[in-house]
Amino acid sequence: MKPTEIDPDLFQEQGFLILRNVIPPDRLGDMRRQFEILVERQKAIWARDRGPEEPPGGAWETRPQPRVTFCDRIDAATADTVSFCLGETTFEVSRRLMAAPEAAVHAMYLMCSPVRDHGPAQWHRDVGPGHPAPLEGLQAIMKEFRPQYVQWNIALYDDHVLWVVPGSHSRVNTPQEERALAENPKVPLPGGQPAELRAGDGVVYALPILHWASHYGPKRRRCIHLGYRAFGSPVFPYVHWRHWDPVFLEHLMPWARARFERFLDLWRQEQQVIGQIFRALIDGSSVGFSDGLDRLHPAHSGRMVALVMLSKLAWRIRAFKPIESKTSSPEERLQKMKSHWHGSLLFRELTDSFTVEEAEVLWERFKPLDDRLKVAGARALPGWQGPDSPYEASRMPDLELDETLGMLLRRTRG
Ligand SMILES: [Fe+2]
Repeated sequence: MKPTEIDPDLFQEQGFLILRNVIPPDRLGDMRRQFEILVERQKAIWARDRGPEEPPGGAWETRPQPRVTFCDRIDAATADTVSFCLGETTFEVSRRLMAAPEAAVHAMYLMCSPVRDHGPAQWHRDVGPGHPAPLEGLQAIMKEFRPQYVQWNIALYDDHVLWVVPGSHSRVNTPQEERALAENPKVPLPGGQPAELRAGDGVVYALPILHWASHYGPKRRRCIHLGYRAFGSPVFPYVHWRHWDPVFLEHLMPWARARFERFLDLWRQEQQVIGQIFRALIDGSSVGFSDGLDRLHPAHSGRMVALVMLSKLAWRIRAFKPIESKTSSPEERLQKMKSHWHGSLLFRELTDSFTVEEAEVLWERFKPLDDRLKVAGARALPGWQGPDSPYEASRMPDLELDETLGMLLRRTRG
């Protein structure tokens, strides 16, 4: 399978593609062997770190889908598992589907079968209600600029767990889907279909497609779960964080390490721009704010979505800073940081440039916008990730961009 053989228009239309031999047959045996070493390493850690109430294997025995962050477990002998994520059939396909000048690996997981039967999970979209922005805002960006983030399941063994509803990535739920989800979110949805993967095959899909893990049972499952985001596109991607820290780079071959160093640079540059935008808001510089927004999101359309996403980031910084100031040990600080944002180094680079007081001022700027994103009363919504949320899930707020900019800059002067 070559990147030029894929059909970005079909991907755009149905929200997913099933691709054969993403892992070439002659590489499959070695990939299985290397990944199994990483699973065993993680199992030992879970057993060591188990809680007092947990069985001897800890999370391996209790979770419906034990998930290994495999990049954190590699050494030189198993580094091919990470190099694979940079290949033509994974990275280059992703970049092409996103129509992105550059791209970066966002997450590297291995999803495993549980030790006992846990049955089906729930249908959902991989976004929360209103997070990182209301669904229709994300979809408008995706339609105009292609998906700016893609996710993969790549099977090391035949795998029929994942189902998708074709086309659901680009629309809200139908009334029929709403009824079905409210009634029972653990059975096939109308129009849903399984992604039938043979060993080595992959399914790549666009968030926020409706999808379902149809069964978590003990039949052997080893499924490589990857994410990729765009860089250099005209829009601020709706998945802009990352789920790894660069602790594994020392084990990579020089060429692969150089690729990850480039990803780090790209993220660092983006964080600097976000930092500039936030600093301008705190300092009251509308010129600095506009300049930063032009760099983060050059396109004119979709800017409201970018502002909503920035409000979420500002909220996280404001929520984290007081915790950080009360946390003395570096280990505790790291854990707290990871609970707030996934790539801890990335988050630290951003939060370090603001004091607790500045984070409060920043949030004051965004709060009027945040208020407009909420609906009265927290609601339990079927089909979304995360807990009950006070945020409107689908519709963007009834706000013009100029009005919003005025709201953010009300107490600032250029
Ligand atoms: Fe999901």
